[in-house]
Amino acid sequence: MAKDEQNNRMEKLVSLCKRRGFIFQSSEIYGGINGFWDYGPLGAELKRNLRDTWWKAVIRQRDDVVALDASIILHPAVWKASGHVDTFSDPMSDCLLTKSRFRSDQIEPQSGTAVWFSGARSATTSHAPERPFAVLLRKNENIEQARRLAREYYAEGSVDKTTGDWMNLELLGERQEEVVNSTRFNPSNGGLLTEPRPFNLMLKTHTGPVESDDNVAYLRPETAQAIFAQFKNVVDSTRVKVPFGIAQIGKAFRNEITPRNFIFRSREFEQMELEFFIRPDEAIELLYGNVTRWEEGADLSSPQPNWGWEMWHRYWVAERTAYYAGIGLGPDVLDYYWQQPEDLAHYARATVDILFKFPFGTEELEGIAARGDFDLRQHQKHSGKPLEVFDEELKAAASALSEDQRQAFIQKTFENRSKPETTEAEISAYCHNLFKGNYLPHVIEPSAGLDRLALAILSAAYDEEVVTSDGGKSETRTVMRFHPRVAPITCAVLPLLKNKPALVEKAREIVQSLRSQMNVFYDESGAIGRRYRRQDEAGTPFCVTVDFDTIGENGPENEGTVTLRHRDSMTQERIPITALKARLLEATL
Ligand code: GAP
Repeated sequence: MAKDEQNNRMEKLVSLCKRRGFIFQSSEIYGGINGFWDYGPLGAELKRNLRDTWWKAVIRQRDDVVALDASIILHPAVWKASGHVDTFSDPMSDCLLTKSRFRSDQIEPQSGTAVWFSGARSATTSHAPERPFAVLLRKNENIEQARRLAREYYAEGSVDKTTGDWMNLELLGERQEEVVNSTRFNPSNGGLLTEPRPFNLMLKTHTGPVESDDNVAYLRPETAQAIFAQFKNVVDSTRVKVPFGIAQIGKAFRNEITPRNFIFRSREFEQMELEFFIRPDEAIELLYGNVTRWEEGADLSSPQPNWGWEMWHRYWVAERTAYYAGIGLGPDVLDYYWQQPEDLAHYARATVDILFKFPFGTEELEGIAARGDFDLRQHQKHSGKPLEVFDEELKAAASALSEDQRQAFIQKTFENRSKPETTEAEISAYCHNLFKGNYLPHVIEPSAGLDRLALAILSAAYDEEVVTSDGGKSETRTVMRFHPRVAPITCAVLPLLKNKPALVEKAREIVQSLRSQMNVFYDESGAIGRRYRRQDEAGTPFCVTVDFDTIGENGPENEGTVTLRHRDSMTQERIPITALKARLLEATL
């Protein structure tokens, strides 16, 4: 798609979202607040449906995943242990002139002539700041522009800008330099930016009545860490056994430097995360004598006891792909990025990003990471509480080994160690712990953003087509082609005329009969064609029209039937009211 077309499509989508009540800017009547969004009546239903489909696919339809609903504010030690306090940051640069802030790695590289100054001197006051400043001149920009911005910069703080005196500042040490693909300049005014420095993305607050360093707390930047922090409680209070997962959906907060692309990157968003705990490969080796590793074409349809982490990782990529297909996001709109060794976090063994083709480019929708035992190990270390599990089967398998076999196992594990700096003593201790049946489970983490999914679903659904009415008039129909499983309204029920009590009564009866199992919308106002168009924009897959045939006014032949209109094809069929619910449920289950 050409850039203009992409922008145009995105603009239309954003405008439809506001006009039809999917998504509004937060606090819009006060001018909005950057990076925060509200879901309107249709958006709230869409989001709820998306949440429900994920919950069903990841938790309810499986035997091996349980749920969690943790608090948003956790003990700050959790974020120290997880590494977020020290390393959860993005590089940030500020414009020296306007103070506007940029994410350094997202600045478009620019080329041109940089005009450097070393300082300035005022003829009328003692103001004489000595510090370097520069302005990048792009094609056709005049050097006077650079001088004007430089004077403005050096005047800051000391020269009265209201009098115009600052325009008389004498600039010092002017020199020019050609620059190519530089990210040191503000893309909008060419002013010099500060060197990139880390900016922690966690939103801080204080708990209790006193604001001091002792009661700093953070709004969680991800839901995952609460799962690790509650791992022991879940294991102790349920009958779960590795391999098993803990999943949760909830709000997360990141003080993004540059929130952008509508709800794609915001400061408050919702995550749907699963931590799926598996046995370490060495435990599998002890139990089964071999570990199944990934190879092209391997059967991922049903988990096997001797699967190693690679198989589990691939399995979850396949599961998540199937989930997306089930809500209408197939291979035509998805892509995958397998992170390269240089992209990977230091603890991750592999990460794949599931990407979606958004109107503004192909970007991450979900990340699926194999994180080893990093998180549990960190929390075990920082909390001082043991988080290992005891595996009866493993202990039994290890006790059947001779001393020579144990030594051979330790040696093999040492040779296969993932980090060269791990010592023989450490490997030996690790193996002896395994022989007793104890280990920290490893984890596969499929982590998806609910708001990004909502945007993906909205983008994929948006369509315009030219249709010709029976009278031969052409018009553009805007239609949201949501999968019936996620559509905010499943079915609209429309009496043909609102001033005909028998039609209204029948339509109300139908609404009542469907309401407990789906979201039904009743609409009696306006011409029927206009009502259909309104439902097309809302993405309602089915419209039921109650007409004179329904109430037997045209004879007994069609009495008790309604027309069922299909949003995508606009075709209509007559079906008995008694068959309606089953037909609609079939499409949504
Ligand atoms: N626990 C792992 C984790 O949080 P992440 O890649 O930082 O990993 C996972 O986030 C998902 O959360 C992303 O794939 C994306 O869908 C969503 N996400 C992250 N930051 C977001 C933001 N600022 N706005 C909206 N969604 C975001």
